[in-house]
Amino acid sequence: MSEPTHPLVPQPCTLVIFGGSGDLARRKLIPAVYNLLLDGILPPNYAILGNGRTPLSDADFRQTAREAIAKYSRQKISEKVWPDFERRLFFVAGSLQDPKAYKALRQRLEQIETDLKLPGNRIFYLAIPPTSIADAVEGLRSAGLVQPPSSEGPFSRVIVEKPIGRDLDSARKINEAVSRVFDESQIFRIDHYLGKETVQNLLVLRFANSIFEPIWNYKFIDHVQITVAEAEGVGTRATYYEEAGTLRDMVQNHMLQLLCLVAMEPPTDLGADSIRDEKVKVVRSLRRYAPQQVGTYVVRGQYTAGAVSGKPVVGYREEEKVNPNSETETYVALRMLVDNWRWSDVPIYVRVGKRLPKSATEISVHFKRAPMVLFNRDSTALDQNVLVIRIQPDEGISLRMMAKIPGTSLRIEPVKMDFHYGTSFGKASPEAYERLLLDAMSGDPTLFARRDEVEEAWAFIDPIEHAWSQKENAPPLSFYPAGSWGPEEADELLANDGRTWRRL
Ligand SMILES: NC(=O)c1ccc[n+]([C@@H]2O[C@H](COP(=O)([O-])OP(=O)(O)OC[C@H]3O[C@@H](n4cnc5c(N)ncnc54)[C@H](OP(=O)(O)O)[C@@H]3O)[C@@H](O)[C@H]2O)c1
Repeated sequence: MSEPTHPLVPQPCTLVIFGGSGDLARRKLIPAVYNLLLDGILPPNYAILGNGRTPLSDADFRQTAREAIAKYSRQKISEKVWPDFERRLFFVAGSLQDPKAYKALRQRLEQIETDLKLPGNRIFYLAIPPTSIADAVEGLRSAGLVQPPSSEGPFSRVIVEKPIGRDLDSARKINEAVSRVFDESQIFRIDHYLGKETVQNLLVLRFANSIFEPIWNYKFIDHVQITVAEAEGVGTRATYYEEAGTLRDMVQNHMLQLLCLVAMEPPTDLGADSIRDEKVKVVRSLRRYAPQQVGTYVVRGQYTAGAVSGKPVVGYREEEKVNPNSETETYVALRMLVDNWRWSDVPIYVRVGKRLPKSATEISVHFKRAPMVLFNRDSTALDQNVLVIRIQPDEGISLRMMAKIPGTSLRIEPVKMDFHYGTSFGKASPEAYERLLLDAMSGDPTLFARRDEVEEAWAFIDPIEHAWSQKENAPPLSFYPAGSWGPEEADELLANDGRTWRRL
């Protein structure tokens, strides 16, 4: 086993959660801190201070945290650990639009830091609607709560949740508002896909093994597929979803991040900026669609009534809080090209959707067929070698290759070499938010998106949204029954190139 190249050393700090009374805090953030504590990797001294308009007392917040951990945590409540964890949870109510709220926050924060002998390191987590981000950072600045970056003295960092805007213009405005108060080195833009173990393993797979890199290019790779399938519908997020749609909600951030890790050049080192420099080059190299090409290369779909896992479900337009004539997409498939030497003319097909037959995320790299000689001579062409990186569930990697079926006649069939994280390492992967919070406490921004990455991604997305929003000649919305693999047009996208989607 090799030594870790990046030992993370989280610093004692206070995590201030704006949106501490919200869904994200309950389902992800508080359970994540608790799991870090149980795993013994939280700094020895820490506190969590929640904020929201709901008038919660510390006791209420502690009770909510306990219920959230009981429901959502990877590990169970330990009565031995709980009393010390609980006494480090606090809540201060107040509106982000009220200057007095920041004064109250400051007083409370300083009191907690004195009582717990914390060094004044602060991480402000903005788990709030994007429309309040500018108010939040400005409020922090005017209350004197943000320290400039320095190697000495306590640190101030801010974690910004997605969505960062709804187009390039609004993303720039949010980034500018945050940059007026925090230096880029203090800003951690979260994309929780980057916190997933298998996603990080992509870099290891590509650059710690000598066998893949020489064939990771247009000479050997026929095409790549990236799939993020969700069995769930829009659930309780309809109001947000109606505004955003799948392209903004999933493609602009998670899908492009995955694509970057598959397609990037080897970085010069493992430094945060070296990796992010290479990722941003990929986004810049993406071929942009002309307005008249959007309909040909991008499919947008919406689910109708159907059945998922045998259970009948309503169509998107029948969901609560959804406009019955909604044009919002719940499915997107794209044919993308990275215009650089490595990926010349290698299509990268991306699909993502709700109410598909199951929830699964994977990347598959399809290699070119063996030459049409020897075993590949007759009309029944051999299958391609396919390297599959399963991101969830059952994280792992498999390689499909050809093998002879035992017997006297020569019959060839594809077989699979399979690596499962669970069985090989014998322990569950930590949740993405655990890793990312730990990185923020340690000051390592590698797994967070830099400003230029976010803005370049919007520059790619904007023309598609623009084409879809045309009054006339907008590419049509396609429909698919819930429980199917998406609209027929998505199959045609690949069929036009003589290819098919991989069956998951
Ligand atoms: N939930 C997720 O799984 C998820 C995943 C990825 C990203 N996100 C993003 O994370 C953010 C929060 O999402 P969420 O699902 O937790 O939303 P939510 O359940 O609606 O919670 C929003 C939180 O923000 C607080 N808030 C809103 N406006 C405020 C104001 N003017 N002053 C003070 N507090 C205010 C609310 O507090 P009060 O209600 O007490 O006022 C609440 O705690 C959003 O940007 C969302 O897009 C969420």
